[in-house]
Amino acid sequence: MQSREIARSSMATSLHSTDPRKWILSLITLTCILGASLFIDPPSIGTQILGKLNRVVPDGLTGWSVLTSPNWKIQPLAVNLSSCHPAIGRPGKLVNCCPPRNMLDDPISDFEFPDPDTTPIRVRRFAHRLDDDYIAKYEKALSIMKSLPHSDPRSFTRQVEIHCQYCTGSFLQQGSDFPVRVHRNWLFFPWHRMFLYFHERILGSLIGDETFALPFWGWDSPDGMTLPELYLNGSFNDHRRDPSHYPPTVVDLNFKKLDPTRSTPEEQIRLNLALMYNHMVSGAKTAELFLGCPYKTGEYEECPGTIERAPHNPLHTWLGSPDIDGREDMGAFYVAARDPIFYAHHSNGDRLWGLWSETHKGFDDPAFLNSYTYFYDETLRLVRIRFSDVMEMDKLRYRYEEIENAWVAARPEPSVSPRLARREIRKREREREGNVVLDLPSSRFGPTNRVLDSTITIPIDRPREVWYSNRRNEKEREEILVVEGIDVKANDYVKFDVYINVVNSTILSPIYREFVGTFVDIPGGTSSSKKRTKLQLGISEALEDLEADQDRTIWVTLVPRTESCNQVTVDGLKINYTEK
Ligand code: C2O
Repeated sequence: MQSREIARSSMATSLHSTDPRKWILSLITLTCILGASLFIDPPSIGTQILGKLNRVVPDGLTGWSVLTSPNWKIQPLAVNLSSCHPAIGRPGKLVNCCPPRNMLDDPISDFEFPDPDTTPIRVRRFAHRLDDDYIAKYEKALSIMKSLPHSDPRSFTRQVEIHCQYCTGSFLQQGSDFPVRVHRNWLFFPWHRMFLYFHERILGSLIGDETFALPFWGWDSPDGMTLPELYLNGSFNDHRRDPSHYPPTVVDLNFKKLDPTRSTPEEQIRLNLALMYNHMVSGAKTAELFLGCPYKTGEYEECPGTIERAPHNPLHTWLGSPDIDGREDMGAFYVAARDPIFYAHHSNGDRLWGLWSETHKGFDDPAFLNSYTYFYDETLRLVRIRFSDVMEMDKLRYRYEEIENAWVAARPEPSVSPRLARREIRKREREREGNVVLDLPSSRFGPTNRVLDSTITIPIDRPREVWYSNRRNEKEREEILVVEGIDVKANDYVKFDVYINVVNSTILSPIYREFVGTFVDIPGGTSSSKKRTKLQLGISEALEDLEADQDRTIWVTLVPRTESCNQVTVDGLKINYTEK
């Protein structure tokens, strides 16, 4: 921003000057400044390589927003179809997953809902309980899809590339030099819902079956906590996986990559359910917490929601091959959709979003609802679709087979009695008062930030509004613990966990109430130079269970879980609150 200001003022000076030499000098200065700002600003290396691209899609259809308002930050986000360029698939890997021909050459149709009177409902079923007929049908559809030529947008390779485009930022936003990305922000759930919607309809149309529905990998249910057998065979197989995680190995929804301690299947299931409870219930009380943060035209801050961080991210890495960089296929987004399990994995995430939406309010920000993007449908039409179009599954004519959600009842207990913990915490408080030279007197780590190479415990003072209104039993606020300015320099899977008021640090596990969430990051899809992430954790329910909701201070512990955390820095911690 600053360089633009300078640029503007030097332009003003030069316009008033009559000396031609000054003109030339000013021009040179201006070019240098603009050039420098171009080099500093672009969020992706892809953009730097290609420089400025044609930015505005001719928008012939009315009712769709074009960027004309001066207040462009509240404009809905849209994809600039003419901007596709090679981008970074994962660190060190430049990939081109652009469509083979310019999408603007195709006529654009606006999305229409399937007619409720004539369209049967597609029922997505539990992948561990499919019958042979269904499997044969899906196998046939998938093998036809895999046999289509690359020039056909319905082909499997093109489906894989669509996901690649939107995870690497191959397209730019309309009216901005920022890429369009669908991970680590509020586009995550709706974009993947759209992707599956079209993918499923294409599969169905290839076998002439209007009722065809994808299965879902119910990894949140004890009966679904292994890789579904069907994915070991035929078109469903993928050799780029970790065979040690084949059945009967129980999935690790909280995968730490290099964990020498193997849990028993029972322990693992208990751990999985506790994590699910945390990320579906206690930590997911608001739209931002569950769905991820706003992502608007020209803005860039990553802040993924609970389910995206885990189990979504850990499972990608858990299943990918340990012998291939980035644990491809599933471990690297740009090729993840090559593995057919990808679609069942995301179908389950989509199902969980549906469940969450039954009892919570999603975003109503027009900047979110009116954002739009494009997909080819089963008739090869290029369809323009708004994010508001995919808020209700009913309207899209599909639903999920109901299963028991065991995590609902998996509310964790404190690891020690709250009374004992309280005594210990009070002791710490007294020491803190008597000893000003405490490690970190405030929640900011100071100008040099803090490397996450070891476990950190720090006290944070809570806003008076929160503990005071809790004392008066006015609990309409959700308290949010924010880990700010997370800078992931590692080119590797990164995971750290967050706990509050831990008094016995030998029993740090999600099965205890002190656990308030995990940060998990898969490398790729961002430029390493600009990556800044914020982690937001809803902690009100945990504080209540720990009987600490009226305390003025809480003690936060950050626990690195991967070696790669020694290349992660954190700016600080703070407490926010928001209306529920
Ligand atoms: Cu778009 Cu599971 O990734």
